[in-house]
Amino acid sequence: MKNTTVTFKKAKAEKTKLTMLTAYDYSFAKLMDEAGVNSILVGDSLGMVCLGYEDTLPVTMEDMIHHTAAVTRGAKNALVVADMPFMSYQTSVYDAVMNAGRLIKEGHAQAVKLEGGFEVTAQIEAIVKASIPVVGHIGLTPQSVNAFGGFKVQGKSEEAAQRLLDEARAVEKAGAFAVVLECVPEKLAARISQEIPIPTIGIGAGAGCDGQVLVYQDMLGLFSDFTPKFVKKFANVGDVVKDAFEGYIKEVQEGTFPAPEHTFKMDDDVLDKLY
Ligand code: KIV
Repeated sequence: MKNTTVTFKKAKAEKTKLTMLTAYDYSFAKLMDEAGVNSILVGDSLGMVCLGYEDTLPVTMEDMIHHTAAVTRGAKNALVVADMPFMSYQTSVYDAVMNAGRLIKEGHAQAVKLEGGFEVTAQIEAIVKASIPVVGHIGLTPQSVNAFGGFKVQGKSEEAAQRLLDEARAVEKAGAFAVVLECVPEKLAARISQEIPIPTIGIGAGAGCDGQVLVYQDMLGLFSDFTPKFVKKFANVGDVVKDAFEGYIKEVQEGTFPAPEHTFKMDDDVLDKLY
């Protein structure tokens, strides 16, 4: 069954947990879709885990469209949400609507996500008015890494916690159908989840959220530059992959790969006729 914004609404009403994972290509999107994840986020984290940048800021609309189109070809049932990259919506409401539209028209995403609270409510309203579902994203918003002075937990002081709660309400009021809470203390995330009528999707925000999202390279042990505290490695695929690469190198060097079963045959008399 295709997951839609209605699935998200129903999950909140029925208190069933929503699952979201990031993906950036066809093969992994297909695997996640077959596993039954509710939603796939084409995160601008692709800048770090796929393209090797230090942060998400260099990611372009062209990068996002290219990867979103690959993911949507692999995802039959998961709701595909595409991230709006840095400077694709902060500049104006017009830019926000046009770029959200490109992710839908050219990337075939079913929804978009953008970072920020009060400062982006006009953009959220306008995108929703254009019939494009929006996921909000508050707390640690990686596109603001320079303004925050690093990747830090948000909402710890009374003032910061109140601001986050108010921002969650504002994002919902602007029309978002879900909101990502990133690196928010567990109790605050649970309180926000109780207070707002749309599902909260947590990453580093504890089990009180209505759903969870993880970057797949993190949860599979495929990204070794750093591992945030909130990541659980559900498998050590990185080690398996490295072992396979080492095995391949060894067998090619020893001449044991390719073996007879990996090769194509032909009649010897054809060969004999060659001059
Ligand atoms: O870009 C991304 O992967 C994200 C998640 C961390 C929520 O925004």
